[in-house]
Amino acid sequence: MRPEYVVHTAPEIIKIRRAAHMTAVARDRICSLVHSGMTTKDLDNIAGEVIRSMGGTPAFLNYRGYPGNICISVNDEVVHGIGRHDRFILKGDVVSIDVGVAFEGGIGDTARTVYVGNEEEMPEDIARLLEYTRKSLEAGLAAAHPGGYVQDISRAVEEVAQEAHLGIVREYVGHGCGIRLHEPPDVPNFAQHRKGPKLVPGMVLCVEPMLNLGSHRVYTESDGWTVRTRDGEPSAHFEHMILITENGTEVLTRV
Ligand code: MF3
Ligand code: CO
Ligand code: CO
Repeated sequence: MRPEYVVHTAPEIIKIRRAAHMTAVARDRICSLVHSGMTTKDLDNIAGEVIRSMGGTPAFLNYRGYPGNICISVNDEVVHGIGRHDRFILKGDVVSIDVGVAFEGGIGDTARTVYVGNEEEMPEDIARLLEYTRKSLEAGLAAAHPGGYVQDISRAVEEVAQEAHLGIVREYVGHGCGIRLHEPPDVPNFAQHRKGPKLVPGMVLCVEPMLNLGSHRVYTESDGWTVRTRDGEPSAHFEHMILITENGTEVLTRV
């Protein structure tokens, strides 16, 4: 039977911490290099160089056949967008960058959505989308305590999303992480009936709200990967990796 959750050992946690920190540095560097006029393929190539220059390996490449170094999801694309030669990034776009790095036996996974162009000129609805998706992530992180439950995280994310009237994607969820990219348990962005596993020291979780300005409904494009909103409204995605410790929660992907 598939275990319900994974508790990592002290030597594993050393590796996971290093990989997660490297992933966070790579995420910020990649985000800082996003500019209008480049293609998403250009950005994917640059991301590959950034990750390899640090000594890491892109963890998504070839994962279940995924063909990119990172995931790049523009505007109504929610997650799993693949870099393309014919997809230009333009001023006013919202670009979700999801980065995974494998390094010496550990894996990191973290995401952030950036606005392309002058922040002061950001439309109000886009500003709300980005602000509250980030806030819902922070609420989820703050709700994680040893002795609590996965559901505490889900409920905290959901509350912020609902308060901001954003659509919560249901088909994709956060997850355990660390030695493999996806480990149990699931970490949904909405509360379910089950409390889920108890949070115990040594658990490593990715919390990753995917919120839509419009409806929660999404579909997968014919490329078999790119997930888009049904109504064409933009979507945002922020992801951090946390370690549950005896004393509380450590965010592994803050730099
Ligand atoms: N990074 C995604 C997550 O946050 C998973 C990407 S899998 C890929 O869980 F195959 F699309 F790269
Ligand atoms: Co991710
Ligand atoms: Co993830």
